[in-house]
Amino acid sequence: MDRINRISLGFFPTPLHALPRLTEKLGGPRLFIKRDDQTGLATGGNKTRKLEFLVADARAHKADTLVTAGAQQSNHARQTAAAAARMGMKCVLVLRGQPPAECQGNLLLDDLLGAQIRWTEKNAVPATMEAAAAELRAQGRAPYIIPYGGSNPIGATGYVAAMEELMEQAREMRLHFDRIVFASSSSGTQAGLVVGARATSYRGQVLGISVDEQREDLQRKVAELATATAAYLKLDFHFAPDDIAVNADYLGAGYGVMGDPERDAIRLTAQTEGVLLDPVYTGRAFAGMIDLIRKGEIGRDETVLFWHTGGTPALFAYADELAG
Ligand SMILES: Cc1ncc(COP(=O)(O)O)c(C=O)c1O
Repeated sequence: MDRINRISLGFFPTPLHALPRLTEKLGGPRLFIKRDDQTGLATGGNKTRKLEFLVADARAHKADTLVTAGAQQSNHARQTAAAAARMGMKCVLVLRGQPPAECQGNLLLDDLLGAQIRWTEKNAVPATMEAAAAELRAQGRAPYIIPYGGSNPIGATGYVAAMEELMEQAREMRLHFDRIVFASSSSGTQAGLVVGARATSYRGQVLGISVDEQREDLQRKVAELATATAAYLKLDFHFAPDDIAVNADYLGAGYGVMGDPERDAIRLTAQTEGVLLDPVYTGRAFAGMIDLIRKGEIGRDETVLFWHTGGTPALFAYADELAG
């Protein structure tokens, strides 16, 4: 991986620590957390790791403007805006839907970070990104399009490196994790982790809790991206959908719709450990993990790592629904 372009945007390694009070409250398993909500870039999150490789590639292509897309409360969009600001680049964000009445959470941060925002309908997102890039070129600028979620082989490489980082920390702390649990959506995080798991001979489960995709769809997408990422890194690894552990039992009322499980998980984790989850991704994944523990599908004698992937600013966009 040393020959792959990378720039430094974040604070690594991110902390890895125990959750003793939550472990006790749930009656096991032994829980740990990896704090990718502390990666830097305007409140942190998993996209910092992807952007270290994506922005390096953009610079290698002499780009001066980052163009990407996401939902109204996209963490990926906000982190891309922060990366652009940090590198002295411009940023254009194509966001799905209509501008909301109140500019809150990630959207507020996008604005503070100086991103230009274009609103569009969901199925017009790729065309709007291409149109924005064409306009920028006509103005003499050099745009670089980052796909949704930063999820291509270049971005996923960030989580191959992350797995190596985790294994180093686990060695130093003399820990073995039976499972690694996290929120999975556009497949880049999970694809990187499974490639990293194979590269480091990790023997445990890499369990993505789907936030918005059906199980088979996400397994297929992760397997395809993991195989492409391995090829990008010149590793002879191939992944079939059945190699990818996905649980899609916690989709609730759909993407971005916070229900009781997410709200309860956010309050529980905040009040027992002082750790903030988010309403869209980590709250849903943590709630799923708690349910799997209660059902005995995750054993009480296991050692489990929850990989916190960020999303904190979205809490403020859900203030009305979250306040006690
Ligand atoms: C906070 C947070 N967690 C998890 C994810 C899922 O990561 P990925 O899209 O790489 O599956 C995202 C982004 O989509 C996110 O913003």
